[in-house]
Amino acid sequence: MLTKQHSTIPGLLLKETGQTRIKAMAKIDFDKYEEFYAKRTGEMRSSVMRDLMAVVARPEVISLAGGLPSTESFSRKTLAKIMNDISMRESAATLQYGPTEGFDETKENIAKVMAAEGTHVDIDHIIVTTGAQQGIDLSARLLVDPGDAIIAEAPTYPGAIPSFTNFQADVRQIPLDDDGIRVDLARKEVEQLAKEGRKPKFIYVIPNFHNPAGVSLSLPRRHELVAMAEEHKLIILEDNPYGQLRFEGEPLPTLYSLDKENNVIYLGTFSKILSPGIRLGWVVAPAPLLAKFNLGKQAADLCPSTLAQMMVNRYFQEAHWREYVEKVVRVYRARRDTMLAALEEYFPEGSRWTHPQGGFFIWATLPGYINSADLLALALEEEQVAFVPGSGAWADGLSGANHIRLAFCGVPEDRIVEGIKRLGKVIREQMELYRALGGQKES
Ligand SMILES: Cc1ncc(COP(=O)(O)O)c(C=O)c1O
Repeated sequence: MLTKQHSTIPGLLLKETGQTRIKAMAKIDFDKYEEFYAKRTGEMRSSVMRDLMAVVARPEVISLAGGLPSTESFSRKTLAKIMNDISMRESAATLQYGPTEGFDETKENIAKVMAAEGTHVDIDHIIVTTGAQQGIDLSARLLVDPGDAIIAEAPTYPGAIPSFTNFQADVRQIPLDDDGIRVDLARKEVEQLAKEGRKPKFIYVIPNFHNPAGVSLSLPRRHELVAMAEEHKLIILEDNPYGQLRFEGEPLPTLYSLDKENNVIYLGTFSKILSPGIRLGWVVAPAPLLAKFNLGKQAADLCPSTLAQMMVNRYFQEAHWREYVEKVVRVYRARRDTMLAALEEYFPEGSRWTHPQGGFFIWATLPGYINSADLLALALEEEQVAFVPGSGAWADGLSGANHIRLAFCGVPEDRIVEGIKRLGKVIREQMELYRALGGQKES
């Protein structure tokens, strides 16, 4: 039987996905392996973004769903030179296992990337991971027992939810506004938990150009959050994939750099500043925690990819990584501006959206009666345009249904305009239908 943990795509979409695997699963009316599964797999959820990958790969679909970096911006010549150099000069080492924590040279390059954001880090406090995603997964694996509370933003990164629910976390989501997570409400939650004799295992935040909300945590709130962690002896899990992708405004300090009490675990990645395909990220943590991350990583995959590290290290010797970041920032800024202008032009009155100063995403809020999972089914069927429905960013899979995440990063400007135009049409039709059926006009 196809249950909610297998797919977040509404039933209506199944016929649309072309995912033969899921279709085949839908036909099975019993599961002969049922008795073998670990109990926790009952809590496993698929990430809505992953489910959508197959749908949006169809060429006729304009996908504003996936947060896909503009990898076409990377110089083919540079890539060819890097690949050639490592295969000609270091082929045996490139093909070999490496240390669990990663090569020192990789960690030195990571320290350079973090220094560019004003954060200074000792390379002995870094472990190289398979993307920041592995950092999220290992954090949950190492810190969460079934039923343990963790605090996250509402909405939160849809890809983090499976990592948290896989370990049966009790995810308490705290609303954010234009200044990021409401630290006052997070504090209330911590105090409420303390009354029950509990403590959140960590507070998971994406302080810069939030995925999916597009907002950034303001400086006063950064100080407040770090002070709260200090006062209540809490761990902050700071996930910062987008910090370098700023289009305007002043850079803000990382929580890691503001913290003086070793309360922050920092997650970084090369995915957005170089390539997600190389799957290299990192965790920075205090020594005792880092030792646990090392044990967790040994069990998960022994070591980060040697080939990927060699590529990154050669790239840092060969090219100017910051120039490439500046180049993609120009691409993303223009795409954001195009999407904002298209939203103004084509989205109906009664909808609103964020104005991100960087990153990949705009978060739109539609009237409360619109369910964005149903809207997605319609948008795909009628207009062949995709987005991420808001409920994918809540652990209950239900809240936030009137929100949508729009990614401007990976789509050429003419397709962005066309996609927003088509989507605006579907939303308008839904609003008109609602009114025709006697619903009130909502703003
Ligand atoms: C907030 C956030 N954290 C982590 C990740 C995972 O990144 P990586 O490719 O480094 O695993 C993403 C990817 O989109 C993200 O948006």
